[in-house]
Amino acid sequence: MSEVERSGREEVWIEKYRPQTLSDVVGHETIVERLQSYVDRNDLSHMLFAGPAGTGKTTSATAIARELYGDDWQEHFLELNASDERGIDVVRDRIKSFARTSFGGVDYRIIFLDEADALTSDAQSALRRTMEQFSNNVRFIMSCNYSSQIIDPIQSRCAVFRFSPLGDEAVEAEIRHIADEEGIELTDDGVDALVYAAGGDMRKAINGLQAASVSGDVVDEEAVFAITSTARPEVIQGMVQDAIDGDFTAARSQLDDLITDEGIAGGDIIDQLHRSIWEFDVPDEQAVRILDRVGETDYRITEGANERIQLEAMLASLSLDD
Ligand SMILES: Nc1ncnc2c1ncn2[C@@H]1O[C@H](COP(=O)(O)OP(=O)(O)O)[C@@H](O)[C@H]1O
Ligand SMILES: [Mg+2]
Repeated sequence: MSEVERSGREEVWIEKYRPQTLSDVVGHETIVERLQSYVDRNDLSHMLFAGPAGTGKTTSATAIARELYGDDWQEHFLELNASDERGIDVVRDRIKSFARTSFGGVDYRIIFLDEADALTSDAQSALRRTMEQFSNNVRFIMSCNYSSQIIDPIQSRCAVFRFSPLGDEAVEAEIRHIADEEGIELTDDGVDALVYAAGGDMRKAINGLQAASVSGDVVDEEAVFAITSTARPEVIQGMVQDAIDGDFTAARSQLDDLITDEGIAGGDIIDQLHRSIWEFDVPDEQAVRILDRVGETDYRITEGANERIQLEAMLASLSLDD
């Protein structure tokens, strides 16, 4: 047994299988094509990558750097997190010192600024001035969840790329590929469960596969739902159906099982409801009403209201509908 196996440590698959080139980034054909043409011309503009987690924003940025700079890419690529808790001044100081150090043989370097939407608009304005100051030597690639949270003066200086949640086929192909490489036995219902739990987030799918593979020889539905803190879709559906049928007590007890016994976060339950409602066997009109309630509940939870109380109130309101 090797040292690694004995200690139970293993390389993290999201790093091991992170695409190294743009052409290995899946599910974003149009984006990849545009990015590739920047790289081929060796002429980058500032860029803004907007989209949810685990869709390839960081991967695309590092792939660009690898293609432009080859093996030395890390010398010319600085990754910073905008929400560095030490503040925007620390971020700007690091940008400045990176931009100023002399560099051999390249026209410009890349600064990848993650979570740019975590910055206040004042901080973004300061950042915009810094971008301007160093735009001869540095290209910025910023990533954010929502481009609407980025001030116009920055957006207008960037080429904007929208990363959508990855399609089920793309996620399925990737996890089947990794399972193959790792010699993992992955069942069809295991694939479906991983794809469902991931909801378009490739990081979640791969981490789920790796975690589930540690706990047993076969990765099946059971293993996946146990490990990913995802409720089975049929449990969520059952809970909602009970509420619709007016059996609030049953609905609440299912909610309780999910939160207390399975340890699923209220926010994740909301997220699942939101994603699966159209697959439930309820009339469209009712689905729309449920979605409306889900949205309201989600908003209240984001605003800091107690998750369980809000979810219970939502189920209660469904029970009262006719
Ligand atoms: N489009 C994609 N194609 C292939 N793998 C991907 C893709 N998006 C994400 N991944 C996988 O998920 C991991 C996390 O992706 P990352 O680019 O860091 O996501 P984010 O959009 O949050 O920056 C990567 O290491 C890679 O293994
Ligand atoms: Mg990232």
